[in-house]
Amino acid sequence: LFAAVEMAPRDPILGLNEQFNADTRPGKVNLGVGVYYDENGKLPLLKCVARAEAAMQADPKARGYLPIDGIAAYDKAVQGLVFGADSAILAAKRVATVQAIGGTGGLKIGADFLKRLNPTAKVLISDPSWENHRALFSNAGFTVETYPYYDAASRGINFEGLLAALSAAAVGTVVVLHACCHNPTGYDLTPAQWEQVVAAVKARGLVAFLDMAYQGFGEGIAEDGAVIQQFLAADLDFFVSTSFSKSFSLYGERVGALSVVCASAEETTKVLSQLKIVIRTNYSNPPTHGAQVVANVLSTPALRQLWEEELAGMRQRIRLMRTALVEALLKAGAQQDLSFVTRQKGMFSYSGLTAAQMQRLRSEFGVYGVDSGRICVAALNEHNLPRVVQAIAAVIHD
Ligand code: LMR
Repeated sequence: LFAAVEMAPRDPILGLNEQFNADTRPGKVNLGVGVYYDENGKLPLLKCVARAEAAMQADPKARGYLPIDGIAAYDKAVQGLVFGADSAILAAKRVATVQAIGGTGGLKIGADFLKRLNPTAKVLISDPSWENHRALFSNAGFTVETYPYYDAASRGINFEGLLAALSAAAVGTVVVLHACCHNPTGYDLTPAQWEQVVAAVKARGLVAFLDMAYQGFGEGIAEDGAVIQQFLAADLDFFVSTSFSKSFSLYGERVGALSVVCASAEETTKVLSQLKIVIRTNYSNPPTHGAQVVANVLSTPALRQLWEEELAGMRQRIRLMRTALVEALLKAGAQQDLSFVTRQKGMFSYSGLTAAQMQRLRSEFGVYGVDSGRICVAALNEHNLPRVVQAIAAVIHD
């Protein structure tokens, strides 16, 4: 039966974890996967999460099946966070939100629904994009192409190219956009540029799918979510996937959501019914624990405040590490203008290192990053920084 099965390639991001775990060298550093580690290199258990879990343990509940679309209080909390609790769009019941298995699950539910809705549409992702975007939408049956994004020469965004690609796209094309903290480049559009993107999406009749996996890691929760308000102001129907993996440090709980903005309450009910079919035929209904924790934190004022403080702490530490990385590289003799590292937002720095240089970082120095040149600044700390700097300095000098 399996004689003709070929060996699949390792996942470009999660496959690095496997390699990293198998590496026996002391002092190895994992800057591959997008995970935040604290100043001691430890994966944090946020205090707000620990407190919510303690309260849940004090009053343990049996666990029946959840509704197909998840915990109602969780879906409501997601909507409040993404669209604004008092927003007109929520009052008008124009958003269908379902709990999903992480942000990836939200993307997949949306992709499967879109494929049924418009089987001939193409999907456009940014060049470059999160490695899994192409695979996920291709596996949902779409032809996936790219729109220009990164401009190596200016260490920024090829905005004219991006806009031209959107303006030339066929009606109904699905455009995957990174709401904030672009993965992998770290370069985000300005509000004025977003305005033009929104106008192009509207003018061409495109379908925007906003991937918001890093809300709170750029400038702040509201600031990072501001693009949603711009899409709402243009009165567009669009998709938003949410992830709490990073912002709650709940990676293994797979807590995410998909929200679909519709034209009316009646449409919302119908869209929700279709999303539920996608979920039911894939995994039936979602798991309980992580989403209950997030719902409790977001809807309990003291815990929510604590969460916002802890998220701000992660954001600030990442910024400090960006500055520390640049300073240390300059001290180690780097000649280049490295100011781009501190202009980038979120967990990643698109270093500009080649695949060959990234492979050398791994093989010679035990420093793991993605072959695209992406390194996870959120995994740097003052203990591993010297080794990372020594390694990068060596590969850029040779
Ligand atoms: C990443 O880009 O490293 C994260 O989003 C984790 C993942 O699932 O790839």
